[in-house]
Amino acid sequence: MVIRMDDVMKRYSRTVALDCFHLHVEKGEVIGLLGPNGAGKTTCLKAIIGLIGIDEGTVSVFGLPQDGKNKEIKRQIGYVTQELTIYEEMSARDNLAFFASLYGLTKTDIDAKIPEVAKLIGLEGRLKDRPKQFSGGMKRRLNIGCSLMHDPKLLILDEPTVGIDPQSRNFILEFVKRLAAEGTTILYTSHYIDEVEAVASRICIMDQGHVIANGTIPELIARIEGDSHILIDVRISNEESLGELKGIPEIKEATLEGNRYHIVVPGGLVVFDKILPILARQTIVNVNSKQPDLEDVFLTLTGKQLRDGA
Ligand SMILES: Nc1ncnc2c1ncn2[C@@H]1O[C@H](COP(=O)(O)OP(=O)(O)OP(=O)(O)O)[C@@H](O)[C@H]1O
Ligand SMILES: [Mg+2]
Repeated sequence: MVIRMDDVMKRYSRTVALDCFHLHVEKGEVIGLLGPNGAGKTTCLKAIIGLIGIDEGTVSVFGLPQDGKNKEIKRQIGYVTQELTIYEEMSARDNLAFFASLYGLTKTDIDAKIPEVAKLIGLEGRLKDRPKQFSGGMKRRLNIGCSLMHDPKLLILDEPTVGIDPQSRNFILEFVKRLAAEGTTILYTSHYIDEVEAVASRICIMDQGHVIANGTIPELIARIEGDSHILIDVRISNEESLGELKGIPEIKEATLEGNRYHIVVPGGLVVFDKILPILARQTIVNVNSKQPDLEDVFLTLTGKQLRDGA
């Protein structure tokens, strides 16, 4: 077990940031931590890293209790903060070297590691330049690179793609997947469901300091028992076929509006083989279906959208 948090409480005066919080992460997992603003994501990460003390409960990392002082734990974690922590006036190379030195790497190790990390973050040709000349995406990539110099076994990324161009975003997602394939355990927070879907093997949804749901995407979707909606447009519809559709036991609801049939079935059920023969004689011109997705899971479980104003 790489991370083990049980019954964790963290208060900031009257605000309860973590409330009976649990998180268990095994070696090699990529966990997506999803939650709206103020849910407690960054607080959770800081508790794992040992940057803040907790009021109740236990946190252990690599099987060792996290008391904020254990250097053995620190050496094995790479932490990419929500805000950029790079130095704008220092060259990209010097930034990488500086953060590596904080982890105790020797000059020889640093010199050997810089080209490898620069390649991973796609900044090979820009090492001499200062981040103040970089785009937002390049700064983000350098910020991540600084946390990779010491080959962490656990990589923690706090919203690493906020405010960057789609190309840099894809780049980051791709190398996170590559690191995961090489065996790095990853904890990734984000407001973007599609991003978490792309990288995470398991998702933990949190709100108001506690875990609301935890599982793989199919497991989470099965939990909300959402409905699938199927829309079928035909050339010339008829009421008789609607009656036949309503007679199919798996169909919860079927309605007809003009030449469009609207069919509702419980999520996960496949009914096309029963529907299509009934409607085939009417010349099907369009079929649209919407399965419940992670967005629906989030909305159902928390009653809110993931992002303010989304
Ligand atoms: N240093 C602090 N002092 C007081 N309250 C804090 C502090 N840090 C966080 N909080 C509060 O704790 C709660 C959780 O904050 P946290 O930063 O962990 O949320 P988050 O899920 O990371 O949000 P975001 O998506 O906006 O980054 C919020 O109500 C926040 O206002
Ligand atoms: Mg945060």
